[in-house]
Amino acid sequence: MAEKGRVCVTGAGGYVASWLVKLLLSRGYRVHGTVREPGDVKNAHLKKLDNALENLQLFKADLLDCSSLLSAIAGCDGVFHVASPVPSGTVQNPEVEFIEPAVTGTLNVLKACSEIKVKRVVVVSSGAAVALNPNWPENQVMDETCWSDKEYCKEIKNYYCLSKTVAESEACEYAKRSGLNLVTVCPTLVLGPMLQSALNASSQILVRLLKDGSDSVNNRAWKIVDVRDVAEALLMVYEKPEAEGRYICTTYMAKSKDLVDKLSSLYPNYNYPKNFTEVDEGSKGFKLSSEKLQRLGWRYRPIEEILIDSVKSYQESGYLD
Ligand SMILES: NC(=O)c1ccc[n+]([C@@H]2O[C@H](COP(=O)([O-])OP(=O)(O)OC[C@H]3O[C@@H](n4cnc5c(N)ncnc54)[C@H](OP(=O)(O)O)[C@@H]3O)[C@@H](O)[C@H]2O)c1
Repeated sequence: MAEKGRVCVTGAGGYVASWLVKLLLSRGYRVHGTVREPGDVKNAHLKKLDNALENLQLFKADLLDCSSLLSAIAGCDGVFHVASPVPSGTVQNPEVEFIEPAVTGTLNVLKACSEIKVKRVVVVSSGAAVALNPNWPENQVMDETCWSDKEYCKEIKNYYCLSKTVAESEACEYAKRSGLNLVTVCPTLVLGPMLQSALNASSQILVRLLKDGSDSVNNRAWKIVDVRDVAEALLMVYEKPEAEGRYICTTYMAKSKDLVDKLSSLYPNYNYPKNFTEVDEGSKGFKLSSEKLQRLGWRYRPIEEILIDSVKSYQESGYLD
């Protein structure tokens, strides 16, 4: 296989990053993966990936430690900045838990990229940095020109959305000022099989629908995308010279009840929620479009495949026992 060069992936052991590392290794890249605890069993899956023995090198790095980032990025042509805290429960101190690692962490990565003169940086942002905008015209599909409203995120205390919005907008401003070649990708809710052993926050949402058995859940609208398709999108915007700016990465919109209907027709024996409460989701009910990414050549798999492969993965990891 032709050698493709050397790239760094931050937060390599996480859900999305693990699929990206796997894809990069399969396409002939040498990968520097940053992890906070190289010896931790939660990162053990990385070393088992095909070609990992020869082409994957793990670096201990924290987003708030610039010298650790410099060591990991040294010698790389490109960087995929994936690491960022993703909430799975209540937040005690949003500034420390989310805003600082997301915003300062992203700027630290970008500054290291400038210093090392990497050719392109791909930052994983989020649909959370796009969709929380109460001023966006009703019924107009959201595209890359739409940004979440920072004041609104603060008002509704959605610190994850705030962290991703501030991190992405500051990254774009930094790139404009410094001339760094930056592309950002904004995936919505990422589902699909896990490579890592720990259940990540977005997979927890589907696991809960399968086994929680609650009397009632909010009938929220989810914008879903498969983790393998996200990895393909990240590599595509890295490799295609014409890629520029922001890319929304999303596929299907489904309400909680639609998901349960689909899942229960495939797997009738799980403990699904019994009732659904309609909720007014404001701007979160809006539609997002991935047209720009599709124009670049991105394709995605059917929702049934996402759900079937997710359930198989949770079964194999024992999360549905
Ligand atoms: N999953 C989704 O639905 C979704 C949707 C849109 C965007 N995203 C974005 O995709 C990226 C990956 O998310 P994920 O779902 O894969 O979550 P994940 O599995 O929880 O991965 C998050 C990664 O970030 C690392 N990290 C957090 N704080 C760090 C710090 N201070 N220094 C170094 N590393 C740090 C974590 O490392 P440790 O293992 O050491 O904690 C972990 O590897 C994030 O940027 C997230 O915002 C995810």
